[in-house]
Parts: sequence; C-alpha cells; structure tokens
Amino acid sequence: MAWITVDHPPVNALSRAVRAGLLSALRSALADFSVRAIVIRCAGRTFSAGADVTEFDKTPEPPHLPAQLSDVTETIEGATKPVIVALHGTALGGGFEIALAGHYRIATRDAKVGLPEVKLGLIPGAGGTQRLPRLIGAAEALQWITSGNPVTAVRALELGAIDEIADGDLAQAALVAAHRLVHDGRPPRRTGELAAAAADDAAIADIEATVAKKQRGLLAPRYCIDAVRAASTLSFAVGLQRERQLFLELRESPQAAALRHAFLGEREVAKVPGLTGDIAAREVKAVAVIGAGTMGGGIAMCFVNAGLPVKLLEAEAQALERGIATIRNNYAATIARGGLSQGEMDARLRLISPTLSYGDLAAADLIIEAVFEDLDVKRRVFEQIDAVARPGAILATNTSYLDVSAIAEFTRRPQDVVGMHFFSPANVMRLLENVRAKKTAPEVLVTVMRIGKAIGKIAVLVGDSDGFVGNRMLAQRTREAYFLLEEGAMPQQIDKVLTDFGFAMGPFAVGDLAGLDIGWRNRQARAHLRKPGVRDCDLLDKVCALGRLGQKTGAGWYRYEKGSRLPIPDPAIEQLIIDHSRQAGIARHAIGDEEILQRCLYSMINEGAKILGEGIAARPVDVDIVWLHGYGFPAWRGGPMFHADQLGLSNVYAAILRLRERFGPDFWTPAPLLSELASPGKRFYPSGATHGDG
Ligand code: 3HC
Ligand code: NAI
Repeated sequence: MAWITVDHPPVNALSRAVRAGLLSALRSALADFSVRAIVIRCAGRTFSAGADVTEFDKTPEPPHLPAQLSDVTETIEGATKPVIVALHGTALGGGFEIALAGHYRIATRDAKVGLPEVKLGLIPGAGGTQRLPRLIGAAEALQWITSGNPVTAVRALELGAIDEIADGDLAQAALVAAHRLVHDGRPPRRTGELAAAAADDAAIADIEATVAKKQRGLLAPRYCIDAVRAASTLSFAVGLQRERQLFLELRESPQAAALRHAFLGEREVAKVPGLTGDIAAREVKAVAVIGAGTMGGGIAMCFVNAGLPVKLLEAEAQALERGIATIRNNYAATIARGGLSQGEMDARLRLISPTLSYGDLAAADLIIEAVFEDLDVKRRVFEQIDAVARPGAILATNTSYLDVSAIAEFTRRPQDVVGMHFFSPANVMRLLENVRAKKTAPEVLVTVMRIGKAIGKIAVLVGDSDGFVGNRMLAQRTREAYFLLEEGAMPQQIDKVLTDFGFAMGPFAVGDLAGLDIGWRNRQARAHLRKPGVRDCDLLDKVCALGRLGQKTGAGWYRYEKGSRLPIPDPAIEQLIIDHSRQAGIARHAIGDEEILQRCLYSMINEGAKILGEGIAARPVDVDIVWLHGYGFPAWRGGPMFHADQLGLSNVYAAILRLRERFGPDFWTPAPLLSELASPGKRFYPSGATHGDG
C-alpha cells in the first residue's frame, strides 16, 4: 500500500509545489512493483480547498493549472492500481476533482464535498464538469456546479458522488477498502470511462432560468452549463478539452479577478497593518447591550447565537418587553423556515438577561450601546456605563454618524471606547465596521476585530469620520440620486440602472425597505451642517411629509399592494417630483443611463479616494469589503475601488472633471489621491494584478 499524504497547511491548497509533489509521489507508487494500491489523503483539519487562489494573480509560469492538475487527475484515473481517495473536512474545487479522478472515494461522515469554482468566477477546470455528471447525472451535477455550494458526505453517498462513509478511523477504512479492491482483482473503475450522462433538457432549462434570475450578470454559471452539456454531447477526452478552454477563458475575465479579490479581501481585512504581532486581545466572556430596539435586539442575537451571555438593558419596562418579543419573533421565523430548533431557540433566549438596572452591567467585558442617535442621550448613557463598568471593560457605540471620539470623552476611560457599527438587520448582515477613535487602545481594537470574527462577522477597521466609510460614501450616492430626480430622472429609472449594474436593489427601493424616516430624521439632525448657497434637494422631506415612509406605510418612493414587497412606480410620486423641479426652477430633461451610473458610482469612488487619502480606511481593500458586505455592491465587480481600477483611474478622473465643469466644485472636486493616481497604469491597488496564472 502506498500512502500519499498532502500536508500543506492551512487548507492543503494545490499550489505548484503540491501538484508537482503529488505527481511525483504518484509516479513512484505506480513504478514500485511492491505497491498494489494507493491511498491519497490530506493532513490537518481538512482535505483540500482546491487550487491555490493566490497563484491566479501571479505572473503566469508554466506548468499551468489546470494542465498540471489535469496531469495529476489523469495520472490518478489512468492508474492500473486502485487509487482510493480518503476525504475529511472539506474537499473543494480541485481537491474534489482529485477525488473524482480516483477509483474509490471514502469520506468521514462530517465531510463536505463540492465544486465552488463558480463563486470565484470560474468553472471547475480539472475534469469536474466531465466526471461529476457521469457519477450523479447532468441535472444534479449542474446544481452542484452552478450553485457552488458544498454537499454533505451523506448526500454525496446517496447520489453516488462518493462510495463509502467511514464511521470509524478513516485511514483504517481506506485500508480495508484498498484490500477489498486489490483482492477483487477487477480493473479500477474509471469515472471517465462511465457512460456519458444523458442531458435532461427540461431540468437543464430550469437551471438556466434560475441562473438567469439569481446569478444575473455573471458569466461563470452560463459557462458551467456549457461545460456540463459538453459532458453529454462530446466524448470524455473532447469534453475535457472544452472544459479547459472555457476555464482558461474565464480565468482571464475581469469577473474572475474581481471575485478572487472579494474572496481574498474578506480575509485580508482581518490583518490590520500595525495591529498584528503580539498585542494581546482582552477576554470577552460576558456582553451587555444597551437599547433593545432595531439594532440592539439584533446585536444581542449575534452574541447569544455564538454562545455568549448578554445582559440587555432598556430605559423602560415596556420597551424591554417589546425588544424581547421582537427577538422571540425573529427566532420563531427562523424555526418556521427550518433554520433552528425550538430547543436551540430556548437555549439562546435563556442566554439573554433583560434588565433595567445599570448595576447589572458591572461584570460585562464588552458593553455595546445602541440607543437613539442623539449625542445627549449617548452622553447620559456613557456616563452611567462609566460609573458601573469594571476596569478594562470595552465600551462600544453602534452610532451611525456621531463622533466616537467625542462619545469617548463622556467617560474617564476614552482608551476603552470604540465604535462597533453593525448593519441592519444586525443578526443577518455580515459587515461590522469597527471604529478607531482618537484614544482607543490597540488591544481594544484587536479585541473587537477578534470578537467580530467570533460572532461570524466580517470586521473592517475604519477611522472616526462622519459616516465612517460605508455611510460616508453612501451619502454621496444618495445626494446624486436626488439631484438626478430633480433634473429629469424617475426613481424606477435610477433603480434599474443600479440593479443592471449588479446591485441587488436600487437606492429608492432600499429606502422604502429600510423606512424613509431614518434618512428624514438624519436630514433634520444634520440640517445645521448644510452650507448656504450649496445645492440641496429636499424631495425626501416632501415624500415623508405625506406620510409615505416606505413599505411599512404601503407607499414611499413607490407604492405597494397590500402584503406585497414589489415596488410599483407611482404616478403621484412622479407628479410630486415634476412639481418639485418646477418649484426649484430646474428644467427637466431626459437623462441617459450612462450618466446616471457615472454620477452614482463616481461620487462614491471619489469619496472613497478621500477616505483613503485621509487614512480613514487604511487600504482600498477595506473600502471594498465594506461595500461588498454592507451595501450589496456586486461581488463580481470587486467593490468600488477595485472597479475604479478596472475602469482606469484616469478615465474616472476625466469624467469627474467633466462633471465639475457642469455642476461646479462643491460636489465634484477630485480627491487629491485620485488626482495623484490619474495617469495611465496607476491604481488604488498598487500590485495591479487582475489577471492570473493558471
Ligand atoms: N487557495 C489559497 N488559499 C486558500 C484557499 C485556496 N483555495 N482556500 C483557503 N485559503 C486560505 C485563506 O485565504 C486563509 O488564509 P489566511 O489564513 O492567510 O487568511 C486560510 O486558507 C484559511 O481559510 P479560511 O479562513 O477561509 O478557513 P475556513 O476554515 O473558514 O474555510 C474553506 C476553509 C472552506 C476551505 C474556505 O477557505 C474556502 O471555501 N476556500 C476556497 C475554496 C475554493 O473556492 N476552491 C476552489 C479553488 S479554484 C479551483 O480549484 C480550480 C480548479 O477547478 C482547477
Ligand atoms: P431604535 O429606536 O429602534 O432603538 C433604540 C432603543 O434605545 C429604543 O428601544 C429605546 O427605548 C432605547 N433607548 C433610548 N434611550 C435609552 C436609554 N437612555 N437607555 C436605554 N435604552 C434607551 O433605534 P435603532 O435603529 O436601533 O438605532 C440605535 C442606534 O444604532 C443609533 O445610534 C443608530 O444610529 C444606530 N444604527 C442604526 C441602524 C439602523 O439601520 N437602524 C444601522 C446602524 C446603526
């Protein structure tokens, strides 16, 4: 028996050296007469995460993936001795393709397998699209490949994607299987030699329709369909060639570059410059949340979902009861959808201790304030926290716009105060902006970054500025959207331009969903910041004054049928906008989609450049991840800064100068960083690689 063990922490990615090592070990085992069977397995916590994603962005050097990985898979499949692949943890992408090429697949019961390449803008490139349909049928294989979602070992066994589940020791079970196969004496079962799966046209058409709807704008799912079709219509060898050709084409695409950037960026944001090294995090075992409203309730849920006990404090009993009832309803809805058991819900609710007394917060390690967005209310709350919190407790505010450094000064321990800006609904949205105030201690920052990960968030560290990163950029886009309305566009046109770009929803539909009163109240609170003589659009005030606060009142920028969330363009709003333009003395005219897109996007990109220039975000990746996970920026465009690089910064800069010509400098003065980078070849991302090896 030859045991080949891939040992390449942390996830056994199939980097160049691993591929070469695997191939050489295979060749030696095949050449060794004393070897009767081969087991391939992986060391560490998981089988293999597939191709090394970081290699895609390096200068191409032969031998290329997938050619070299195909050498591995073809050597495995062609072996005259049985090759058993023993799977644990996750076997994904190229990792699972190695298994598919093997003659017998055995997995631990908790293992998961899958082909997630589509999430990186690719198709499987080492035979996955040709072998999986031969094992489980074309329609099922297409489900796996177009969704990219992993499947449990139990399901994979049911469908025939694997051959056995090992309940005891995996190596022992692999050994037993190997003996059986050797003694059986039959030639190895080669997946590529199995009869081609007949295409189920109706099932494929269904998947095509789903892809067109749910993965709008994405190239890769359509290529997946092409490749799986090839498995039914072409010979295995020609099918592999077709797969390779499609894979290589996609690998060079801007979409794949953007999705790789999104994958790696999500992990990169955790590695904050200056905060790595030996700064120890503080221990957080007990949490308190102040305010049981929209945000406080959701924040409490995040912590109890991760098993941490939470004291939930309100000013009044009634508000507390309401808050707890909402949490209970949220969990009940999850149970109804099959996402939680009653027992789990009860256990989570038991971790929440409602209270009206600040004295109960004395033992908390982390206290998060989520009361009304009003500096005076926050002052009173922080003074009370300061009086009771234990020394070393972290005091966080969930404020959206207020100055965290000012809030810190309401306490005698500004070094312990930090912003933790969750997004609504807090128990669902993955983004967490952790806000560094002037005096926040480094170990407090390390702790809130770590706790963010512990509760399943993608935490991005940002600086203290009006709206931090996300809302500050959003405010620019919102402003342009209103200006476009008063110049001639309608909400449905602007929303369509942005959904066509790839956003899940347009700004007006989002406003209706969130409730227009949030923005309205914010406008009122910030009225004193408006500069005389600087253009301001008060259309939102006019809409809200009519009691149209969005979906919850049945009307906002759109109208809604009872019980429906479908936005319907409303002639009453159109008239209101037309009247508004007339009153404001603005001559309405048709505005092209291209102009709408540029004004909405470039206003954000320019603000992003200011944010970077001011050091509010340390790196462009921080800005991009905020937008990808907090505001539904399409992942396949990589985020606003990455997208700007793809557009070419000199083009963005030139367009902003043209807008300055038309609308003046108040809103369209290019950010100094953008001016600096506005020459061919310069980028926000200095490394510049958007194309990869492979
Ligand atoms: N290549 C390179 N590095 C990878 C990687 C990969 N395929 N997958 C994960 N990593 C790195 C991560 O960047 C992270 O690095 P860091 O520690 O420096 O931040 C580290 O491994 C650990 O990853 P996670 O933090 O994501 O660990 P988890 O345990 O949460 O998740 C996982 C593990 C489920 C394997 C997850 O990392 C994952 O989904 N990876 C991507 C899998 C994938 O998309 N594979 C397809 C690759 S394309 C391909 O195979 C082409 C082929 O068809 C030819
Ligand atoms: P909310 O009005 O739903 O909830 C605020 C809660 O705080 C209410 O239940 C109220 O009774 C309670 N409260 C008020 N004063 C209190 C006090 N002195 N002591 C204890 N409890 C008190 O407001 P929401 O939306 O939850 O916002 C809370 C904070 O989160 C604000 O700072 C807001 O800017 C911020 N935020 C809001 C987001 C949103 O989408 N709603 C998103 C991100 C941040």
